Amino acid sequence: MNIPLKTYWTLLARHIQPQMARFWLLTVLLLSSIGLQVVNPQIVRQFIDAAQAGAAIDSLLASALLFLGVALIQQIVTVSATYVGENVAWTATNQLRAELADHCLHLDMTFHNNTSPGQLIERIDGDVAELSNFFSQLVIRVVGNIILLVGVLAVLAVEDWRLGIAFTVFAIVALLLLNQVRSLAVPYQKQLRAAVADLFGFLEERLTGTEDIRSSGAVDFVLRELYQFSYVILGHWRNVQTRFLILRLTGGLLLTLANVIAIVSGYTLFRSGLITLGTVYLIIQYTNVMGRPIRELTQQTENLQNIGAATERLAELRSNTSSIEDGPGARLPDGPLALDFEHVSFSYVEGEPVLKDIRLNLTPGTTLGILGRTGSGKTTLARLVLRLYDPSEGYVSLGGIDIRQLTLSALRQRVAIVTQDVQLFEASVRDNLTFFDRSIPDDRIRAVIDELELADWYRTLPHGLDTELETGGRGLSAGEGQLLAFTRVFLRDPGLVILDEASSRLDPATEARIERAIDKLLHNRTAIIIAHRLSTVHRAHEIAILDRGMLIEHGHREGLASDPTSRFHHLLQTGLEEVLA
Ligand SMILES: Nc1ncnc2c1ncn2[C@@H]1O[C@H](COP(=O)(O)OP(=O)(O)O)[C@@H](O)[C@H]1O
Ligand SMILES: [Mg+2]
Repeated sequence: MNIPLKTYWTLLARHIQPQMARFWLLTVLLLSSIGLQVVNPQIVRQFIDAAQAGAAIDSLLASALLFLGVALIQQIVTVSATYVGENVAWTATNQLRAELADHCLHLDMTFHNNTSPGQLIERIDGDVAELSNFFSQLVIRVVGNIILLVGVLAVLAVEDWRLGIAFTVFAIVALLLLNQVRSLAVPYQKQLRAAVADLFGFLEERLTGTEDIRSSGAVDFVLRELYQFSYVILGHWRNVQTRFLILRLTGGLLLTLANVIAIVSGYTLFRSGLITLGTVYLIIQYTNVMGRPIRELTQQTENLQNIGAATERLAELRSNTSSIEDGPGARLPDGPLALDFEHVSFSYVEGEPVLKDIRLNLTPGTTLGILGRTGSGKTTLARLVLRLYDPSEGYVSLGGIDIRQLTLSALRQRVAIVTQDVQLFEASVRDNLTFFDRSIPDDRIRAVIDELELADWYRTLPHGLDTELETGGRGLSAGEGQLLAFTRVFLRDPGLVILDEASSRLDPATEARIERAIDKLLHNRTAIIIAHRLSTVHRAHEIAILDRGMLIEHGHREGLASDPTSRFHHLLQTGLEEVLA
């Protein structure tokens, strides 16, 4: 973990800058709370010495009140410091979380395919939480504790130089020793963290598969696995806690030892008349005050190490850049868009081409039906149009413009894709349909809902457009899910629509509704239908057949259908399901 100190400072500075005033307030509060710890023992010392010298009750009362006052202020300062510290930390870390989430959302699909959601959560939330301590107080506290420790040692040295030397030696030995003991726990803590991460990965995967797990009766098996994960975690946890116990015991022993030194030396100096009784109290009290910075500094070196690791991982995450970037921002023509694939080749994995030299030209308003076996590259073709990936060779153009010349948002505004699994979010119906675009008026949403024959469904919603949908669209039928996805497309009014058609069969009534909706959807738009059923292909003007990444047939549907040598003709004879299964 060799992060240059500068990295910490840049990170700190960037997130503290916008809240500089609050940060200075926090610095003042924390340093005052530390400073006040030094003041109070001085008051008590004066009180003791004055009382012993037989001072008037009034002056004694005054020092007692002063003591109470300072103690009260100390509490108020401490509470305020915590309050302001939390504020600074949350503001900084929320900003960081938002930045990271934004960064990840803009990374290309290759990154997301290689990174599980669990890992991302751990990065964006876990690592950032680790940093929160750093943003709020760590730096100030480390500095404050060093000042406090040096200050106390200096005051002791002023009282008597021998005390100064004795306690300085003690402080150094204590710091070294505690640091040694503390590092005992580090490897076990790493194991613990790794085990917890494994558990999260496991939970994420199993929870996503709940339906399959239940239906296959594997619940007991999964619970057993869960038990095993917990068992491993327990083992590491025990190891970590044992080390912490050793650490706490060592701390306790050191403090006792310091007290013994304080009492013995105080007593000796007092006996030889070198110091007053009040000073003896002062020495003992300062010894205890000293315990805290020593303990905290040990803890803080560890925090710094964790923060180092988190910073490193976050820097790594940030260093991932998307290979898919905005173009200079050419303008697309309005209305239906022409689509051209010009000698497009593509591979997800180097050396394993998924699409090979595809040439396809669609004039505006044409509907193209694509047929091909599973794995022939149909969905990949659609992904290239949306620039979820860029071709390795050749290019895709839309409305006569190479899509790399467009901004991603302009491109995705004009191209809509409806895939087999409709993603619905835990949000209102309105937000689900408009993708959180508040500029679309409710009337328009309701009109589209009517047009797509979803009015009956809409009437069942208790709060109309404000009704909250459940994650994953539970409570919606497959057909309704599809129709909602179509609604989204209508609201955006794109110039090119891609349907990656659902292969599951629906009941005839729903099927008919969907067919009518598709008719409306394709009207006056260029369209690609990735078809799993021949019924959908009947509306296509052109047909393309993909086989292992190659375009093996392309032509007008009617022409191909009537040509007995064409593959399409053959498909019509034998039925799609049998051939393409
Ligand atoms: N994200 C991915 N990473 C690596 N390979 C992929 C990925 N997605 C699809 N493939 C592979 O690319 C080929 C084409 O897949 P796809 O376009 O989904 O076919 P289709 O939609 O025709 O069934 C398949 O061999 C598939 O395994
Ligand atoms: Mg597919």
